[in-house]
Formats: sequence, structure tokens, C-alpha cells
Amino acid sequence: MSPFLLTRTLPEDATDAALRADVQQGLTGTPKTLPPKWFYDAHGSELFEQITELPEYYPTRAEREILVARAGDIAAATRARTLVELGSGSSEKTRYVIDALSDLHTYVPVDVSESALTQAGQALIAERPGLHVHALIADFTASLTLPDTPGPRLIAFLGGTIGNLLPVERAAFFAAIRSLLSPGDALLLGTDLVKDEKVLVRAYDDAAGVTAAFNKNVLTVVNRELHADFDPGAFDHVALWDRENEWIEMRLRSRTTQTVKIPALDLAVDFARDEELRTEVSAKFRKEGVRAELASAGLELAHWWTDEEGRFALSLSVVR
Ligand code: AVJ
Repeated sequence: MSPFLLTRTLPEDATDAALRADVQQGLTGTPKTLPPKWFYDAHGSELFEQITELPEYYPTRAEREILVARAGDIAAATRARTLVELGSGSSEKTRYVIDALSDLHTYVPVDVSESALTQAGQALIAERPGLHVHALIADFTASLTLPDTPGPRLIAFLGGTIGNLLPVERAAFFAAIRSLLSPGDALLLGTDLVKDEKVLVRAYDDAAGVTAAFNKNVLTVVNRELHADFDPGAFDHVALWDRENEWIEMRLRSRTTQTVKIPALDLAVDFARDEELRTEVSAKFRKEGVRAELASAGLELAHWWTDEEGRFALSLSVVR
């Protein structure tokens, strides 16, 4: 059997249909919203890579620090033979865990980007002969069917991307994860933590303007895919801390009264001057909140590791 398998669980046109539905829904409702998953075309993914290197954007470095320090603990606690990674991208940070798992049989990266999966999968196989890689082209927020590989299974969801889901979506997500696990299996989850408001806002409104460009890129995606005529320059980037919900919101604020045409949807969208379009929620967490959300899905928090500065946490939870 080839050590590299690629399974497409998304039909070729699923992305287009999902984008249409999200744009139709999000731009005809009040307030206007777009889901953050549409940031990540090739240019948006490149901008996100740049964000992770900004002095203000600490989560990537903080999570890497924890992975470097705790990979051995993660391996010892799970003894995983199958590692599933949701939203794997380049699999770069996961390498610490993969390298520490001495009995690893199969790595299952899950991503919507076929090119990222193939690149990362082939590179990994070259370095770890004998390892099987079964990549899944899938949207991890949809239902997943995992390949039949040996346990124990470890599902990793890193980067703090869980924070992009709204609380009800998180509950459904954790329940779906629980349904993929059996006793002895585990979930490794990365969560950014509540901290000083200024530090948080700066991380989403950097001095160089990379996050502003990343935010506006979603308009370029809608222009290209749905032939819309958004002028990214007619919107301002906004990042704010919602202290009630304990989340960062990114928005695009219309600088003028304007009408945007979206021919593929036969839609014209009116913006009032200063009207805001919400493009991302990035929730920040506390240990007890994470414990409670996991417990509601039947998962028990077993380990909680933070970076030295206490900015970010990796938690390991097990089936109760
Ligand atoms: C990759 C989803 C974790 O929410 O911090 C970075 C995306 N948005 N800057 C985050 C993001 C603005 C990021 N996640």
C-alpha cells in the first residue's frame, strides 16, 4: 500500500456553493457578517503566514513554545498510533508532536487545501519512512469520517482556530469530535487566553497593516469568485475587544454610503456610511471555561499547559 493516500470528501464545487450561501446569508442579514474561513485563498494564506511573524501576533510563537516543551508529555500521555490534525495547513508546528510519537502509524491531516496536504504529506513521508499519511480534503466544521487506522487516536486542533467558532458552533464541534473518539483516545486543543485588552487588540491591528490587508482580502475573494465589485479601499479595518463575550471581532467599516453589486447572486448590497461588516470572531478562553465546554461534550480535561507568559494554552482531554 502506498504510504500516501488522499481522500476528497468535498465535491469539487462544494466550496463555490458554500461561499455563495455564506455571502448571500451574511450580506442580506443585519448586522452584515462573513465567515472567517473565506480569508484563506492563496494570497490570504500568505498574509496569514506573515501575521504569524509580526511582533504583535504572539499566539503562534506561544503555541510553538508549548509544543516544544510538551511534545514528550503529549506523546507519553497519549501513546497515539493515529494522529488526526484538523486544519493542518503546512503541518509545521505538528512536527514536534509527530517526532515525539514513537509508535505513530498514520498521520491524518485534514484541510480544504489539496496543495497544502500533498506538499506537507510528501515531505513528511520522505523524513519518516514507514509512516502512513492519509490526507483528507475536508472542511473540519462539517462531519468527518476517519479512516480505519489503529488506536489510540489523537485529534489535534491547534492555532486557536476553535476561537473562530461561535459558542453554539463550538458545542456542536466538540460533540462531533467526541463522536470520533473511543475510550483511550484524546483531543489536543490550542486556545488563546484572555489577557490585557491592549495586547489583544494590537495582535489584530498591527502597525504594519498586515492584518488590515488580510481582513480586506475577503472582499477580493468575493470579487474574484462571485464577480462582485467591492472596493477594498472603501473600507477601514476595525479590531475590537468584546468584553462581554470575551472575543476579538474584526470588522470592515464602510467609509461611505455605497452599493456593492454581486452579479453571481443577482444581489446589490447597500452599505450606510460607517456601517460595519463582521468578518471574524476570535474568542479568548479561560481554563474553567474550556473545561466546562469539553465536559458538556463528554470530554475530560486531563492536562493544561501554557507558555511561560501564560498567554496561550494547549489542553489534552480524554473521553470520560
Ligand atoms: C488562525 C484563526 C487562529 O483568530 O487569531 C489572525 C486568524 N485573524 N489575525 C486568529 C487571524 C486575524 C487566527 N486563527
